[in-house]
Amino acid sequence: MQPTMNDRANIPAPAVDLDRLIDDRAAEGWFSVHRDAFRDPAVFELEMKHIFEATWNFVGLESQVPNPNDFLTTTIGRSPVVVMRDAEGKLGCFLNSCRHKGAVIFHTGEGNGAHHSCPYHGWTYDTGGRCVAVTSQRQARYPEAFGATAHDLAPVARFDSYRGLLFASLSPDVPPLAEYLSDARRGIDIVVDQGPDGIELVPGAVSFTYNANWKFQLENSSDTYHFIPTHTSYIGVLEKRRSQRAAAAPAGSIYEDIGAQAASRRGSFTFPNGHVLMWGDNPNMQARPLYASLPQVEARVGKVMAKWMMYVRNLTLFPNVQIAENASMQLRIIRPLAVDRTEMLTYCVAPKGEAAESRIKRLRQYEDFFNPTGFATPDDTSAYEACQRGDDARTLDWQQGYVRGMGAVRAGGNPEAEELGISPETSSVGGYLMGDETIFHGNYRAWLGLLKRGAAKDAGAA
Ligand SMILES: [Fe+2]
Repeated sequence: MQPTMNDRANIPAPAVDLDRLIDDRAAEGWFSVHRDAFRDPAVFELEMKHIFEATWNFVGLESQVPNPNDFLTTTIGRSPVVVMRDAEGKLGCFLNSCRHKGAVIFHTGEGNGAHHSCPYHGWTYDTGGRCVAVTSQRQARYPEAFGATAHDLAPVARFDSYRGLLFASLSPDVPPLAEYLSDARRGIDIVVDQGPDGIELVPGAVSFTYNANWKFQLENSSDTYHFIPTHTSYIGVLEKRRSQRAAAAPAGSIYEDIGAQAASRRGSFTFPNGHVLMWGDNPNMQARPLYASLPQVEARVGKVMAKWMMYVRNLTLFPNVQIAENASMQLRIIRPLAVDRTEMLTYCVAPKGEAAESRIKRLRQYEDFFNPTGFATPDDTSAYEACQRGDDARTLDWQQGYVRGMGAVRAGGNPEAEELGISPETSSVGGYLMGDETIFHGNYRAWLGLLKRGAAKDAGAA
């Protein structure tokens, strides 16, 4: 029998030997990822099915849809979805696909409207996902079975929020969101609590694509090691600005003194389910937009949380969202398109109600460093593309990029974890130049775990 739309779980999985993809012998001092993880289209298919379409994905912020009938569109793996507030203000998340012939109904990134019609045959839905009109239904001479069939937009299997961050899962077979995020939630708290009323996205999303695997982005956000070699042009510009102080750089940068940065500490936490937090001392904290309100922030959240807000911190919530706070603050949504193509959707994040002067500083830093037209992102994406091309050297199998810091990593927490009241799976602290790579182990253990869980399900269904 041909599989139907709802029978994807029964389509035989491509033959991939999953045990061949990760060489995890941490106890013996070795960890590696096979290049097929980045170049094999069959692995990509499994990632879509068993990771993105099988677990929680970030789908947006509550503050993006503040009013009744607001909506935003995004994707979970390959699936287009829409997050909507209905007329009463209740949030829902649905597959953005007309029940008639499958056409996408919501074509813009966000908007507002009580009713939405499919552009093909005009079936109309309200913001609660209910199908309120099938065009010319009375004249259609539909069979009885049509009336007995649900036409409403299909809701996702699970939908929940943490501190205003919305997550959805296409599979019901997931732990509750709080359990899934585990203590990575503290990384979210450090971001959300920066404003008395939480955070917002600065208007102006930027999306771009690169011709390489999504996991290069996943890793890069936690990759301290690449900063100095990859971002030489940015560092050069900062040095030049320092020597021409009067003329430029009113916004400043936490990376202004790269010598002080190199002498600072960096640390990492890994959490269950693939989430990781990289953190580091900030030797130039007065460059932070939040610095101007530090006394008020300390009074509100306490000295420990305020200190962590000033740290460099890059948080990855597996599999598809990252919040990077080093120069300004960026929210990144990773959307894999193919084994060698990825779309990024990026936003500048700010505390709600931030003072104008701080907001200006935040935007200038963002443009300088994070924007695709800035000094960092083009260097990073061209590095990913170089990796993708080089990984096509088919007689080479294993990467050597997962063992720096293995002498410093420990199971469980450390004094920094205690300070935050969290229990990570692993923690690590070292000098900046250690360039810890053990943080990726957390990503890949969850990655392989989900692939194996999916493969076991498929085997059980066969
Ligand atoms: Fe970078």
